[in-house]
Amino acid sequence: MGFMKPNFLLILILNITLVLCQFPKQNIPQRKIIYLTKEEKEFVLMEMRQLLKSIHNIHTGLYEENYNFAYNSAKKVGMNMVNELQAAEKFILLKLPSEFKQLGFSTHKQFDILAESIKHKNNKEIQKNLSILTSYCISCHDLYALEVEEK
Ligand code: HEC
Repeated sequence: MGFMKPNFLLILILNITLVLCQFPKQNIPQRKIIYLTKEEKEFVLMEMRQLLKSIHNIHTGLYEENYNFAYNSAKKVGMNMVNELQAAEKFILLKLPSEFKQLGFSTHKQFDILAESIKHKNNKEIQKNLSILTSYCISCHDLYALEVEEK
């Protein structure tokens, strides 16, 4: 038994190491690449940073019990944003896969749904809607990457 223990431990450690080595490969399946011009890519990323900023402002508003601020922060990136950007985004939209656009629309709509629950100060609903919202962010980030197209 005295001999068995170190061997068993060694095998266990080796196994754990092997499993851990495979983790990155399992966790990063190939993402679909969307090719845009440099300016278009920067435009999409700027929009993304606005979404993160809104989520931050929503959390800050909720924490400070400033529901009005949280509501406005959510509304700012709701479907209104899509309508405002439609003209500027026209050429980018043509390059985006339809599932990508669908997920994008669902995300903006979810900001509006979240805004409604903030208006009603329904904390349980707010949490649920934030969770649904961020699940869209995660899904899309798992599926797609942006790259600058070769001229
Ligand atoms: C429809 C797809 C989609 C949705 C939905 C989405 N994103 Fe993104 N986001 C992307 C892609 C694609 C990138 C670029 C990733 C890459 O190229 O590696 C990105 C990048 C970002 C970045 C990095 C910006 C930079 O300057 O590099 C941030 C921050 C971000 N997203 C925040 C969010 C947040 C917050 C949400 C949810 C509220 C969200 N995104 C929802 C597709 C999406």
